[in-house]
Amino acid sequence: MDFRQLIEQRRSANNFVQGVPITETDLKAIFDDVKYVPTAFNLQHPHYFAVIDEAKKEQVREAAYGQYKVHSASAVIIVTGDRYAYQQTEAINQGMRDLGIINESELQDLVKENTNFYEGRGEQFMKEEAIRNASLSAMMFMLAAKNRGWDTCPMIGFDRNKVRELLQIPHNQEIVLMITIGKEKTESRRLRGYRKPVNEFVQFI
Ligand SMILES: Cc1cc2nc3c(=O)[nH]c(=O)nc-3n(C[C@H](O)[C@H](O)[C@H](O)COP(=O)(O)O)c2cc1C
Repeated sequence: MDFRQLIEQRRSANNFVQGVPITETDLKAIFDDVKYVPTAFNLQHPHYFAVIDEAKKEQVREAAYGQYKVHSASAVIIVTGDRYAYQQTEAINQGMRDLGIINESELQDLVKENTNFYEGRGEQFMKEEAIRNASLSAMMFMLAAKNRGWDTCPMIGFDRNKVRELLQIPHNQEIVLMITIGKEKTESRRLRGYRKPVNEFVQFI
């Protein structure tokens, strides 16, 4: 799809056509696009908990205050960010060492630099980084889904503690967003909300 068309056609679905299954294969194709999202120091903080099991999805619906669109969606996805992603520096970059792109000493320098960068700035910064990187990834997910014929809705209306407990989301993972995915029930579509013109949200300096 043409990029402008893709952006214009992505809408936050108000409701979904009920009973449309989505498979792991469908979702894996989307995630295979999502993996190219940029992340700080290529640390790949984002993580996804994709709920396709119908009974589990109903439990997530309860944690989302019973919202109908969680019920009618084909799947519900929780996007999280790893606050301690910097601890993966060695694991992520060792392939480059094995290929001879960097040597062992350069790899250890990277580990030290990333550790100092995150630990020097502290827990609040680690949380912000988790949210920042996972948010960019979530947007990529919604566009990739649309590109592959699926509709989505980003959602913040849910009890994070309940969702954490239900899906056993580890504590290093900051819960960032819920995304419902399915086939939009177009009859329920709301009018596109007002968008500020460019000169109201951009300052050229
Ligand atoms: C961070 C975030 C949280 C949102 N939370 C909800 C939500 O809980 N429920 C909902 O129906 N829509 C939610 N939305 C969707 C917005 O209402 C929607 O993006 C906005 O009205 C613009 O509509 P459009 O995406 O169709 O252009 C959320 C969007 C964002 C970015």
